[in-house]
Amino acid sequence: MTATRHAPLTLLPAPGLHGSLRVPGDKSLSHRYALLGAMARGCTTVRGLSPGADVRSTLECLRALGVRIDTVGPDAVRLDGRGPDAFRAPAATLDAGNSGTTMRLLSGVLAGCPFRTVLAGDASLSRRPMRRVIDPLVAMGARIEAVDGHAPLAIDGGALHGIRWVSPVASAQIKSAVLLAGLRASGTTSVEEPLASRDHTERAFPAFGLVLERGDRVCSVAGGQQAVAPAEPLDVPGDPSSAAVWAAAAAALPGSEVHIQGVGLNPLRTGFLDALARMGARVTLDVQEERAGELVGAITVSHGAHEALTLGAADIPALIDELPVLAARAALGGRLEVSGAGELRVKESDRIHALVAGFRTLGVEAEERPDGFVVDGTRRPTGGRVDACLDHRLVMAFALVALGATGPTTIDGADVVAVSYPGFDRDLARLTGC
Ligand code: S3P
Repeated sequence: MTATRHAPLTLLPAPGLHGSLRVPGDKSLSHRYALLGAMARGCTTVRGLSPGADVRSTLECLRALGVRIDTVGPDAVRLDGRGPDAFRAPAATLDAGNSGTTMRLLSGVLAGCPFRTVLAGDASLSRRPMRRVIDPLVAMGARIEAVDGHAPLAIDGGALHGIRWVSPVASAQIKSAVLLAGLRASGTTSVEEPLASRDHTERAFPAFGLVLERGDRVCSVAGGQQAVAPAEPLDVPGDPSSAAVWAAAAAALPGSEVHIQGVGLNPLRTGFLDALARMGARVTLDVQEERAGELVGAITVSHGAHEALTLGAADIPALIDELPVLAARAALGGRLEVSGAGELRVKESDRIHALVAGFRTLGVEAEERPDGFVVDGTRRPTGGRVDACLDHRLVMAFALVALGATGPTTIDGADVVAVSYPGFDRDLARLTGC
């Protein structure tokens, strides 16, 4: 299983951030291109793949299922797809590491495979709810054993039938797991969600020759479709969730300006830019191209004012992963009140509790609410020593608070940031000039 991480990161306050950069490839898209490339017939080349540990977990699981994956350059792989019928029963338990996307999306793929697979993860992933994918996949005909709704999952896949699944939560992972299973089911499979979640799976399907019908918060696939490898390499744009930390830092620290190129600008991921603008930052978004159905371009963010912002349930899906860095931005001036974000409690950590506890340790005025939090940035943080709680997004949020603190900050377990952003501390040093 995944080793426990312990390395601390110590940061000193910084006067501001300046510069231009590219961030590593988008994690959500990388998982999808890898899974679809493995399910497709033909060779799929993916460039700019997320170099993080989460996507490596997906690649390793696919290799264990018998998929040949060659590294063909830095952050580039070629998947030799032979269709899901060529997957073979793995010799050992598959390790999804810290990655919820690996475990949930792969469960959807394995639901249609006629053998038994056991999927496990690290301590954080083993605490996260899996019933949300188990229930629809079992309704489609898979047999799945879990430990009180948690990993490890033992999946006995096989013949599936289509269903209409009404998901109680807006979750792209649930939606994607069901759609991937639906490709192998008889009849049509539909998923309806209460609010629109990120639609990368829906946008990726046509690139692999798959037909999907989309309506308002609902999408459907016909079963029995075989994915085909795209003729051209797929280029993954930079991860907007990684870009968000620099955007939030530039917004928070007076005199700052950052320019991030080649970043994914899917409208269901860029809610943080709107939030930063409403909190007083100057934000420019420049959509430059469309790649495999995804918008890609540049963002420029500079410090403006410190305004208060209130976010509610309808705002959450488009910025769910960015709430920790938006909270950190508020900790350095202004105020952020969040409700309708109970999903934060089941991320890599209980992000409401761990964020508020960590912020308080760093001298930030913060209050926990059942489904959100309030952060007040009138008092300057002091810095201190906090634990990352196996959560990469908390490392980024605590690091941002550290930049505006009066004293040094040490983040224990900070190397978990490599789940999505290896090289985070190098980029931080470059942008702050420290
Ligand atoms: C993701 C979906 C979101 C997000 C996660 C990545 C994805 O999770 O928070 O970081 O790639 O589908 P949920 O589906 O649980 O909302």
